[in-house]
Amino acid sequence: MFITLEGIEGSGKTTQIKNIVTFLESKGYDCITTREPGGTAIGGKIRAILLDPGNNDLDPLTELLLYEADRAQHVSSILKPLLCDGKAVVCDRFYDATTVYQGFARGLDIELIQELHNLVLKGLKPDITILLDLTPEVGLERAWRQIKSGTRTHCETRFEKEALVFHDKVRAGYLELARREPERFRVIDAAKDKDQVQKEIIKTLSFFIRSQKTADQQTGSV
Ligand code: TMP
Repeated sequence: MFITLEGIEGSGKTTQIKNIVTFLESKGYDCITTREPGGTAIGGKIRAILLDPGNNDLDPLTELLLYEADRAQHVSSILKPLLCDGKAVVCDRFYDATTVYQGFARGLDIELIQELHNLVLKGLKPDITILLDLTPEVGLERAWRQIKSGTRTHCETRFEKEALVFHDKVRAGYLELARREPERFRVIDAAKDKDQVQKEIIKTLSFFIRSQKTADQQTGSV
């Protein structure tokens, strides 16, 4: 099973991933968490370039190709092997983030991005994508509070420093993807208190797991 989490800065993905793992383990899944960018050792070096606030002259195409390079390494050395091995993989961001940040928000050609995804993903697609949705005003306020208090690193603030209009485009882009692919996306209101968000996510995943089991029984694959 392959689960991805998406959302704007400050949407609470990191906190909720921990809860998802606890839940999946309680259901007997052998669960692994990973992230993009930076899910591999090489990806960690690419992440440092991408998120360094000092790199404010990074060309948008260079940025796109670095995200895809990170992903190519991640897909071949981590994601495919783990999924083939029957693990439940929970990934903090995946290719939807590129469509939204580099496509909808930076304005790069969506068809070019899709072609790169065809090349890099080799058919890999999440079974379910949880979108933690909230306004950029609230998300950025939370993110900067964490950065100032030291719970989030200052060295990775290149995107937090983008203008509000950029984050508005990111949010609208995510909601548009969710509208286009309702069978894969589940949108959760992340402005709510984190315990309530956790409950919503667990409810969504419980339902998803049950429906998967029913579908597997009907096709005789279990
Ligand atoms: P995060 O690990 O805190 O979510 O930070 C990753 C940042 O990188 C976040 O601002 C979103 C951005 N990003 C992209 O712009 N494109 C991508 O493809 C991915 C995976 C992330």
